[in-house]
Amino acid sequence: MEHDMPNVSNVQGLLKTRELGRTMVFEACIDSTNRLAKVLAADGRPHGTTIVADSQTAGRGRLDHRWSSPAGKNLYVSILLKPKASSESFPQIPLLCALALRRTLAELAPQMPMGIKWPNDLQTRETRRKLSGILCEGVFFNQGEHGVVAGIGINVNATESDFPVELRTYATSMKMETGTFFSRSLVLAEFLGHFEKVLDAWEASNPPSLEQFSSEWRDADLLYGRQIAIDQDGRHQEGRAVGIDAKGHLLLEDASGSISIIHAGDAHIVRR
Ligand code: BTN
Repeated sequence: MEHDMPNVSNVQGLLKTRELGRTMVFEACIDSTNRLAKVLAADGRPHGTTIVADSQTAGRGRLDHRWSSPAGKNLYVSILLKPKASSESFPQIPLLCALALRRTLAELAPQMPMGIKWPNDLQTRETRRKLSGILCEGVFFNQGEHGVVAGIGINVNATESDFPVELRTYATSMKMETGTFFSRSLVLAEFLGHFEKVLDAWEASNPPSLEQFSSEWRDADLLYGRQIAIDQDGRHQEGRAVGIDAKGHLLLEDASGSISIIHAGDAHIVRR
């Protein structure tokens, strides 16, 4: 079991989805699954097509960071989404993806309490180590329809020495947190199931909004009530994080009690 390279038959044998993962592409080594996903969208692959790699040579993260992608340990996955909702609501998808991932981890590793650092980092609740990253990008399908590629990296069985030295105090994995080996096929199949359910519920709301997930988000929110700093396009703002709005924007309260709506950026806790 220590070498459970996911493949189409073992993941699809575990799948409970209607669409996500019903078309799958596996690569032993690729530059970036998000890059391949964009090529496959232009080539007309359907909604839900899922690209999985055992390793990446140029895994990409948010804000131009690299994503450490060693072979044989973790999940590197990109999912093609052609939402029925209008493209204005697409910025909510990374937050939905984070919620689905948190549900997956709560089910498979309940002994490992996880939170979300807005907009979509999955971190351990106590030690604030990062277990997963999400990079959603706009994509065009062959008919010119606009969609999203949801790229997800999950540190499943990595051990400390698998991470570059500079990430060792900051990153973690399911195995490092629990001492248990996890089947990557099972983690992927369960995640696709949760993601499809969350997306279905979101699309059923009109207009699509995160309102129905507000108490779940509040429970997951690692920034709530904290004094934070946020950098966005060269602008630095500080204040108290007081949750998100229905569109997934961060709400930041300044000393006078007025609230700013933050659309994107990298948040840091300055005081707990
Ligand atoms: C982050 O910066 O936290 C986001 C990391 C996203 C990494 C995943 S791994 C699969 C997919 N392919 C990529 O090149 N990046 C995403």
